[in-house]
Amino acid sequence: MSVQKTKKRVAILISGRGSNMVSLIEAARATDYPAEIGLVLSNRPDAAGLTRAREAGIPAHAIDHKAYPDRAAFDAALQQELDAAGIELIVLAGFMRILTDAFVEGWAGRMINIHPSLLPLFKGTHTHERALEAGVRLHGCTVHYVVPELDAGPIVAQAAVPVLPGDDADALAARVIVQEHRLYPAALALIAGGGAVLEGGRVRLGKAERDAGAALLSL
Ligand code: GAR
Repeated sequence: MSVQKTKKRVAILISGRGSNMVSLIEAARATDYPAEIGLVLSNRPDAAGLTRAREAGIPAHAIDHKAYPDRAAFDAALQQELDAAGIELIVLAGFMRILTDAFVEGWAGRMINIHPSLLPLFKGTHTHERALEAGVRLHGCTVHYVVPELDAGPIVAQAAVPVLPGDDADALAARVIVQEHRLYPAALALIAGGGAVLEGGRVRLGKAERDAGAALLSL
């Protein structure tokens, strides 16, 4: 990995329990981790993740989308908080709110998301149910850059899990989330540390990262 002197300042955006957020906060405690979590924001004031972030000593604020007349006004409020905290990179972790194209374009190449499927399969919601319906043998999760088209941005890293006989959506989700918690900290480290760079709409890995299989986890 290339030498990175200063840690990237990261904001994590959540809407719910924030288990991926916790895995990122824990990874970022390591002194040699190339990112620091400077802020957690939730569009839902009741998100359990807000409490978990505060317990970990991270500033965590709710910006209730229902208090804003439209998406642009909500996104402007987000932007204000991000600017005030000097954020350089946004990490979406179970953030279930569509952002405006203008906001996404403003953060182009500086915002990533984790999605619970092996993209480009099963974009959108209910990914585990749809994987079961489709009869796939492998399922998983993907970290990707965010672009205006939903779940369509350049892929940074993926983790695969088997689909086993007798699985229901909950069993499959439980197997996938374990891998999400490994993959997201690894993918953020790749990006923040310069081991993965966005070039011409694709993510290019450094040689050391390619050799180490840093962007691919499988069982
Ligand atoms: C995770 O499984 C994440 O991949 C998914 O929501 C869950 C959030 O869990 N994200 C999406 O579906 C985004 N479209 P968490 O709050 O415990 O991290």
